[in-house]
Amino acid sequence: MLKSVDLKKCQISTLVIPVCEDQKIHNIKSIISLIELGKEKQEFQGKKDEKIVLYNPPNIKAERVVFMGLGKLSQIDLEKLRIFAGNAVKYCVKAGLKEVLIAAPLAKALPLETENRLTALFEGAFLGNHIFDKYKKEKKAPLKKIEVLAGAGTAKKYNKLSHQIEIICKGTVLAREWVSTPSNDKKPAVFANGIISLAKTAGLKTTLLDEKFLQVNKFGGILAVAAGSNARPRMVILEYKAGNAEKTVALVGKGVTFDSGGINLKSADGLTGMKMDMSGAATVAGAMIALAKLKPKINIIGVMPLVENMPSGKAIRPGDIIKTWAGQSVEIGNTDAEGRLILADALAYVIKEYKPQAVIDLATLTGACVVALGEKIAGVFGSDNNLTDLIIKSGKKTHERCWPMPMPDDYKELLKSDFADLCNMSSSRWGGAITAALFLADFVKNTPWAHIDIAGPAYIKKSDAYCEPGGTGFGVRLLCDLIQKMQGI
Ligand code: BES
Ligand code: ZN
Ligand code: ZN
Repeated sequence: MLKSVDLKKCQISTLVIPVCEDQKIHNIKSIISLIELGKEKQEFQGKKDEKIVLYNPPNIKAERVVFMGLGKLSQIDLEKLRIFAGNAVKYCVKAGLKEVLIAAPLAKALPLETENRLTALFEGAFLGNHIFDKYKKEKKAPLKKIEVLAGAGTAKKYNKLSHQIEIICKGTVLAREWVSTPSNDKKPAVFANGIISLAKTAGLKTTLLDEKFLQVNKFGGILAVAAGSNARPRMVILEYKAGNAEKTVALVGKGVTFDSGGINLKSADGLTGMKMDMSGAATVAGAMIALAKLKPKINIIGVMPLVENMPSGKAIRPGDIIKTWAGQSVEIGNTDAEGRLILADALAYVIKEYKPQAVIDLATLTGACVVALGEKIAGVFGSDNNLTDLIIKSGKKTHERCWPMPMPDDYKELLKSDFADLCNMSSSRWGGAITAALFLADFVKNTPWAHIDIAGPAYIKKSDAYCEPGGTGFGVRLLCDLIQKMQGI
């Protein structure tokens, strides 16, 4: 919650103050004098990562005040505020505290819009408070109360903001937890039911397509990937209807609950972490549930094809030819290029059945995209520059960074098959993220479409300021921002 209090009168357990090394970034008098007191100690000057704690300081009724250095003014941006707030919350959790009050740096010296500053602080704090310890005996207690301190006018003007941010961050947390859940506890049927029950509670219309439906309706891509596993496939469709809005956006997420590679079995190294191959689906589900509560003025369809990719006597083989839902035949060049097969069916189906004005898919599609952009930046491909530009803008704002990638026409050659309409693997070793996107494009045709390859940023092995090791929920905040932008277009 955003709060305005008289620090002299109100009893506070923990107050955390971000401090700049070379400028005043606060505009509340009592905070400014507290910082002067803090800076009297020579070990604290507000340099980056410096921290001191004062207990029961004079003139205010706070049990403890934690000062955290942000460094020089010129280095402070919104992401630094998220990181600060995440670290502040983690400090309090580690100390076994129950609540925190974070002083918002709202002075004009900092060239950032007030709403964005507050949003960043809430995001860092809410996300930094997430702990996934369902599988551990020893639990850490997250904070029960997170508040941000601002002047009375600001607190009144932005009184609804923290609730909105909390809804979005809860979507991110949902996605994180699904991704971090081990594959033995999220087989397609279980994952599908989990999504549907939360989506129903959020007020979304839900449809569960079971194996029978997929067979009768010839979802050849999904069935081919699922063939090797004992766990049977599902497809989940979530619908959000906005009163009388005319436009519809479709979100499609890759949901491979475990990617062993299939008969083209991955290496030991390649196998680790492949429980995260359903991150696209988790992001779409998390975003849909958040959006159902945010109620934008645009219709949204979420589609999640869910399968497990396993080797067995029933699995598809290299050289097999399958028929996709859309009708194109595909030669299996490599059973590890499975994501594009399930997305091909899901994309073609949602376009034909729902006729959306735009489609966006998110997928942990290629290792090649991680080679190109590293582990923190997603690749964006698309047929429509307006759409990809909007995605990149939302990525900048939320710090879920996206970088534009090309889709050169002449690379389509690389997907030719001697026997089928297409091959699921490129004939070249290089440019794998691009050829994967070009494969998908064949199933999208003329609908404005963007593909976000999140193979890098969907998962982290080491904790950072506002995310523990595991699923990051990458894309939920981005999609919520994007959809809110798109309702005006
Ligand atoms: N799920 C993987 C991509 C992936 C790799 C995600 C690393 C996250 C981290 C995907 O299904 C895959 O295996 N892609 C292959 C494609 C190749 C066989 C054409 C790849 O990237 O190597
Ligand atoms: Zn694969
Ligand atoms: Zn995969």
